Amino acid sequence: MLKLTKVSKIYEGKVAYRALTDINLEIDKGEFVAIMGPSGSGKTTLLNIISTIDAPTTGEVEMEGKNPHKLKKNDLAKFRRNELGFIFQDFNLLHTLTVEENIVLPLTLDGARVKEMKEKANKLANSLGISGIMNKRTYEISGGQAQRVAIARAMIHEPKLLLADEPTGNLDSKASKDVMEMLVTINQQEKTSLLMVTHDPQAASYSDRVVFIRDGKLHSEIHRGDSRQAFFQKIIDMLSLMGGDGNDFSSIRV
Ligand SMILES: Nc1ncnc2c1ncn2[C@@H]1O[C@H](COP(=O)(O)OP(=O)(O)OP(=O)(O)O)[C@@H](O)[C@H]1O
Ligand SMILES: [Mg+2]
Repeated sequence: MLKLTKVSKIYEGKVAYRALTDINLEIDKGEFVAIMGPSGSGKTTLLNIISTIDAPTTGEVEMEGKNPHKLKKNDLAKFRRNELGFIFQDFNLLHTLTVEENIVLPLTLDGARVKEMKEKANKLANSLGISGIMNKRTYEISGGQAQRVAIARAMIHEPKLLLADEPTGNLDSKASKDVMEMLVTINQQEKTSLLMVTHDPQAASYSDRVVFIRDGKLHSEIHRGDSRQAFFQKIIDMLSLMGGDGNDFSSIRV
C-alpha cells in the first residue's frame, strides 16, 4: 500500500545536509513496520516525507498507487485527514479541550454530525479503555491515558496508514506495554498499516518487521517470526552491531 522508491532528502541551508539517501521501502496493507536507528539517522525525516509534511528532494512516494506529493493543496489536506493517522511522542493534544473533544476534532474539521461523532468516539474509547475520562481535560489525565487519547484521535477517521513517531517515548514500561498491545489490536482488527519510529526495542518487538536506518541509508531489516522474545533479542543484537554513540540508545529498557 506504501512504496518508496529511491527517496533522498537534502535539507538546504547555510550548509546543505543530506539526511536520506536512496531509501527503498515497501509496506503491505495491514503490515506493522518499526523503524529504528541512532539519533540523527533520518527516521523523523522519513516519517515526515511519508506523511507529506515534508517533500523528498528526489525519489517517489506512492500510496495505493498515487503520489500524494503531486496533489493540489486542498486535495493534500483531505488526503492527510482521510487516509493518514498520526501519533506523536508528546501526544499533541489540545489542553483547552476535553478528552472527547480532542478525539472528535478531526471529524469536526470535516463537519460531521455530532451524534455520529459521539458514537464513533465512544466505540473507540471503549476499546482503548478510556471511557471513564471522556469529560476530563487533558491536564487531568496520565501520560498513558493521554497516549491512548492520541491513538483514538488518530483512529477516528479509520485511516489506512497510521504513522507513529516514538509513541512510547514518554511512557513507563507498563504504559508502553498497554499502548503497544492496543496498537497491535488495531493493526490486526482494522487491518490498518502501521509505521512506527522507536528507540525502544521492547516496543519494536511488537512489529512484524524492523527496518534499521543509519546515516540516512537502509542498513538492514529483520522479521519477527513466531517468538516476540526471540525477536526482541535479535533487535538488541542488531542495535549493538550497528554501534554508534552509546547515548543514542539511552532510552532502551530491558
Ligand atoms: N529542518 C532541518 N534542517 C536541516 N537539517 C535537519 C532538519 N531536520 C533534521 N535535520 C538533520 O537531518 C538529520 C536527520 O534528522 P531526523 O530528525 O530525521 O533524525 P532522527 O533519526 O529522527 O533522530 P532522533 O532519533 O534524534 O529523533 C539530522 O542530522 C538532523 O540534524
Ligand atoms: Mg526523530
